[in-house]
Amino acid sequence: MPNIVIVGAQWGDEGKGKVVDVITPHFDVIVRYQGGNNAGHTVVVGREKFVLQTIPSGILHPGRRNIIGCGVVVNPASLIDEMESLVQRGVSLDGNLYISKNAHVIMPYHPALDRASESKAGKHRIGTTGKGVGPAYADKTARVGIRMADLLDEQLLREKLEYNVKQKNRLLREIYDAESFTVDGILSAYLRYAGWLAPYITDTALLLHNWMEAGSSVLFEGAQGTMLDIDHGTYPFITSSSTTAGGACTGSGVPPTRINGVIGISKAYCTRVGEGPFLTELHGETADLLRARGNEFGSVTGRPRRCGWVDAIGLRYAARINGLDTLAITKLDVLDACDTIKICVGYKYEDEVLTDFPEEERIWHEAEPVYEELSGWKSSTAGLRDYEDLPTKAREYLARLSELCGVSISLVSTGPVRDETILVNDSTLTRWIPSLRSSLPPH
Ligand code: GDP
Ligand code: IMO
Ligand code: MG
Repeated sequence: MPNIVIVGAQWGDEGKGKVVDVITPHFDVIVRYQGGNNAGHTVVVGREKFVLQTIPSGILHPGRRNIIGCGVVVNPASLIDEMESLVQRGVSLDGNLYISKNAHVIMPYHPALDRASESKAGKHRIGTTGKGVGPAYADKTARVGIRMADLLDEQLLREKLEYNVKQKNRLLREIYDAESFTVDGILSAYLRYAGWLAPYITDTALLLHNWMEAGSSVLFEGAQGTMLDIDHGTYPFITSSSTTAGGACTGSGVPPTRINGVIGISKAYCTRVGEGPFLTELHGETADLLRARGNEFGSVTGRPRRCGWVDAIGLRYAARINGLDTLAITKLDVLDACDTIKICVGYKYEDEVLTDFPEEERIWHEAEPVYEELSGWKSSTAGLRDYEDLPTKAREYLARLSELCGVSISLVSTGPVRDETILVNDSTLTRWIPSLRSSLPPH
C-alpha cells in the first residue's frame, strides 16, 4: 500500500477531515505534520460530529496508529481537552497516539502575543485564529522554542522559561500593554501537562521508520491549505507552517523517497477565513447562498467564512507546488441551488490576463477574475454515491475543472457523512487502493 499525503488545495477547510476519514481504514498510520489547534477537521460519523484539532482524524478508526509529528505545534492544555473529550465519547487512545519529542509547544505567552499583535495591527491584521500558532513557530525558527522533550526535563524547562518569560513579558508590557506571565505559574501548569502526556511523547520519526520498514502504510494529514503555506501562500496572509506536500517530510521525519502520492482536496467552490486577498470572493446573494448551504462557519472559531467561486488558476498552482496526483472535490451538493456556476480561468491585471498564479501581493489584491460560466444543474446531488447518477451538467462542471487544473478527480463528496461519497471508477485513488470501495457501506 502506498504512503499518501493529503493537502488542502485552497485556503483550508476543504473537507480534509472527511476525506482522511473515508480512506483511513486502508492505512496503518495517520500523521499530522504541521499546524496546531488552529486547525478544525470535521468528521461526521452517522449522527455524531467530531472536530479534530491537533489529533489526526484517523483516531476515530480503531486499530490505526496516530502520530502528532515534529512539525506540529502542540498546545498541551488543548490537546489534553481533545483527548479527554474523545475518551468520553468512547474513542480509545490506548496505544494508538504518539507525540513527537521534537514537536514545539505552544506556551501561554504565544496566544497572548498572537492576540495582542493582531489587536494593534490595524490594516495589517491577518485575522489569525488567536491560538498562538504564529508566535510559537516564530520561537521555533528563532531557536528559543520549547519542545515536547523539554517538558520532560524540569531543569531545562525552567532555564528556557526564564529566558523566554523575561523576553515576552517586556514585549507584552512595553509594546502591547498586555498581561504578563510568571515562570513559576507556567512551570507548575506545564509540569502537570507533561506528567499527563509523558506516556505519549516519543521519537515518532524512528517509529515511522521502523513501521514502514515492516510494511506499514502511512497517510499524512495536512492542515490548512496550499494558499496558507508560509512559502507558497498569499504571504503575509498565511499561517506559519509548511502546509504543502513538502511539509509532510520535514514535519514527520519521513524522507521524500518514501512518499508515493499526493491528493489535493478542494471544495467545488472556495472559502477563506480571516483577512487577505481572495480574487473570486462573492458578496451578496450568491455568497449568502453558499455560506448557508455549505454551513460556512469556522469549525474552531465559528467565524463566518468568506465564500466565492472556485479558482482554477489557484488550483493549477496547488497542483504544481504539491505535485498533486489527483483531486478530491468536496461539497458539490452546495452548488445544487445555483443557476450558473463560474470558474476563474485568468487573472486580469493591467492589460494582461495571467494564467499562472502570480507571486506579487499587489496583483492578488488588484487583479480582476476572468470567469468561464457554466449553467447549474439545479437538482439535488446530496448524498449521491455513483458518478453516473450525477446530473450531466454536474459531470460537465467536474470535467472542466479537472481539465483546467490538469489533474484527474478521484473522489467527489456530496455530503458531510462518511458514505456521502462518490469514488470515481478506475481513478488514481482506486488504483492505489483497490479495496477502497469496500470500506464504504453498501448502497
Ligand atoms: P477541513 O478543515 O479541511 O477538515 O474542513 P472543515 O471540517 O473545517 O470544513 C468542512 C465542512 O464541510 C465540515 O463541516 C464538513 O462536515 C463539511 N463537509 C465535508 N464534505 C462535505 C460535502 O461534501 N458536502 C457538505 N454539504 N458538507 C461537507
Ligand atoms: P484547517 O486545517 C482555514 C487561517 C486563519 C488566518 C490565517 C493565520 O481546518 O483547514 P493562524 O491562527 O494559523 O496564525 O491564522 O490562517 N487558518 C485557517 N483557515 N482553515 C484552517 O485550518 C486554518 N488555520 C488557520 O483564519 O487567516
Ligand atoms: Mg477546518
